[in-house]
Amino acid sequence: GKVAVLLGGNSAEREVSLKSGKAVLDALIRKGVDAHPIDPKIDDISKIKSLGFDRAFIVLHGRGGEDGTIQGFLNTLNIPFTGSDVSSSAIGMDKAKTKQIWQSCQLPTANYQIIIKDNFDPTTVSDILNRLSGCVMVKPVHEGSSIGMAKADTPEQLVDALNEAFKFDHKVLLESWITGDEFTVSILNGKALPAISMKTNNVFYDYQAKYQSTETQYLCPCGLAEDELTTLNQLAEEAFKAIGCVGWGRVDFMRDKNNNWFLLEVNTVPGMTETSLVPKAAKEAGISFDQLVLDILEQTL
Ligand code: DAL
Ligand code: MG
Repeated sequence: GKVAVLLGGNSAEREVSLKSGKAVLDALIRKGVDAHPIDPKIDDISKIKSLGFDRAFIVLHGRGGEDGTIQGFLNTLNIPFTGSDVSSSAIGMDKAKTKQIWQSCQLPTANYQIIIKDNFDPTTVSDILNRLSGCVMVKPVHEGSSIGMAKADTPEQLVDALNEAFKFDHKVLLESWITGDEFTVSILNGKALPAISMKTNNVFYDYQAKYQSTETQYLCPCGLAEDELTTLNQLAEEAFKAIGCVGWGRVDFMRDKNNNWFLLEVNTVPGMTETSLVPKAAKEAGISFDQLVLDILEQTL
């Protein structure tokens, strides 16, 4: 049948999604699938059924596309789609709820505090900073690709970082800063693909390091010992399942200097651009980009 590749959208990650979507579309066409792009920012998505589409490959990142909204819409039309269902997509888009679920399952995640824009009292920042070990990562709760994120280790920096993050979200997550290395585990049909370690000279693995830098290093295999890899993969699969995610996705981690693991977040529609992580992990597992795309699509049959 005819496959709609949903790409673009109107989130802050629109540009990333256009690249991910183009790569997926090209791969499907190379594989002989009758695939066509649909950009909900431009195209009339309500026509998806009358246009004869019977399946959807969701490559929308961020709010409105990765957060259960589109998934619920497609459910009402009886159009099968790739990736997670409504509730797991919604939770996955919410870094605070994700952490709360992981905590309740005894899965490791950094100490944190949520700040609501309307209730924000700048006189409290020193206390908050102290409680979170003096240095924090500031994250809009419902964003992706490190958009709106900053490190803060003084009250002044924290106020500035919060005001920046509030431009993207009314809810902001502060997490105790973890000094160490960032890792990611891609999941394909519930199973972990080879882990990747990301090395950047930036303060953290930010938007520039993700999509623009030629300096960022991706280690895959990631150099962990066998037993550490087993622990990491198990954590990733458990974390994915705890949220109720299905199909494919990616779980992000930090490892501190004492080799403790901390779950950061789950991505239910991870990037599929040239420099993206899931395609790199698949390649290490002997799965080409085109095959990866077909394996993800298979969930809709
Ligand atoms: N949010 C971006 C697309 C990612 O996780 O890859
Ligand atoms: Mg993300």
